[in-house]
Parts: sequence; structure tokens; C-alpha cells
Amino acid sequence: MTRRIQIAPSLLSADFANLERDVRRCEEGGADMLHVDVMDGHFVPNITIGPLVVQALRPITRLTLDVHLMISDPDKYIKQFAEAGADNISIHVETCPHLHRSLALIREQGKRAGAVLNPVTPLEYIYPAAEYCDFILLMSVNPGFGGQPFIPSFLRRARELRTWLDGNNLTHVEIQVDGGVKIDNVAEVVAAGANVIVSGSGIFSGSIEDNIRTMRRRATESLV
Ligand code: DX5
Ligand code: ZN
Repeated sequence: MTRRIQIAPSLLSADFANLERDVRRCEEGGADMLHVDVMDGHFVPNITIGPLVVQALRPITRLTLDVHLMISDPDKYIKQFAEAGADNISIHVETCPHLHRSLALIREQGKRAGAVLNPVTPLEYIYPAAEYCDFILLMSVNPGFGGQPFIPSFLRRARELRTWLDGNNLTHVEIQVDGGVKIDNVAEVVAAGANVIVSGSGIFSGSIEDNIRTMRRRATESLV
């Protein structure tokens, strides 16, 4: 099955004082989504933005808002992010003792549900709940900051997960990658099985539009 490449610039690397301008540049470059990193200073050692920013973005763009919750006890906030205008909501399995329930909460809000695994969380952890996911995000850095180096074990993990999903009638479940993805390594990331590409520092340094276009071209060329 050939999957569609989707480019999701991570707004964490945008200019927050000129967010609308940077959103327009992402649109101009042909981005498919805007990736919104929500950090609570508890699950991860950094604090970023909350539902108010999602709410502010919603009326100014038709791009998919892909909200990555790096927060403890995400069940408490799923509804709030859904109502603020998120399209995709992803939650870390490390924060969810009742994963089926949390994923169901997202779908009950009419949103696409994603489960996220940190780089060392065993893949087996998601298998029993994979059928309740629209996408699975494999972190390729430890969450918390933009601009960190790509952890190469992602490549083996993505190949293994793609093979498992395809072998279990879950070909429609997409693999998202997040962390350290740049123009130079996007081809190998896609060849390993990812088709939803989150990139922050790789897109927001230099020309946002050109970076998105180049990234899409390299990714599409390596699509299997
Ligand atoms: C990391 C965040 C990422 C981050 C990626 O915790 O989840 O989305 O913004 O940034 P880069 O692409 O710079 O690694
Ligand atoms: Zn993210």
C-alpha cells in the first residue's frame, strides 16, 4: 500500500511573535498539517502552550491541527483541546494507564487518535491498542525540546512497527515521526515506514516554503 506523505511543521520552532505569518508560510509551502507541541513541565521538562493557542489558530487556517500532548493525565484535557479545534490528538502511552479509554475519549470527540511512544518504550506496548489508533507516533528524540539530534534506533523500530501493522490488518494506521528530522535524513525515515513527517528546526531555519517543498520531494522519492 502506498501511503501519502504528509508534512507537519512543528510550530515549536516558529516565531511565536509572528505565528500567523509563519502559518501562512507553511501553507504557501504546501504543508499538510501544523504540529502543535503541548508540554506541561511535568511529563517533560519544558512548558509550552495550551488550548488557547489551538483556539487562536483554528479560525486562521484550514490545515489539520495535529496536537501532540506531552502532559501527565491527558484524559483531563482531551475534551478541551478537541473543543479548541484540534483535528488529531496524540497521547503518550507512558502517561496513560488506561490506554483504550484515553484513545476512545479522543474518538468520541470526533477526532483522529494517535498513540505516542518514547524512543525506549517497547513497541509491544502499543500492539494491543493499535486498532484504536489512527496513527502511531514513534518519537525519534526524547520529548521536551526542539533541535535535538535524531536517534537512529527509530529506523529499526519503524520497520518493525510497519511490518507488524501490515501483518495484522492495520495497513491504514499511519506512522508519524517526530524529532531531529531534516531534509538530509527524511528519505531514510520514509524508507523505514513513516509517512507523517514532523519537523521543527529542519523547516523553520531558512526559507520555510523551500524547506517544506524540498522535504516533500525527498520524502516522496523514497516512498515505498
Ligand atoms: C519534541 C517535540 C517535537 C519538536 C521537534 O519534544 O515533540 O515536535 O518540535 O523539533 P525538531 O524537528 O527540531 O527536532
Ligand atoms: Zn511533537
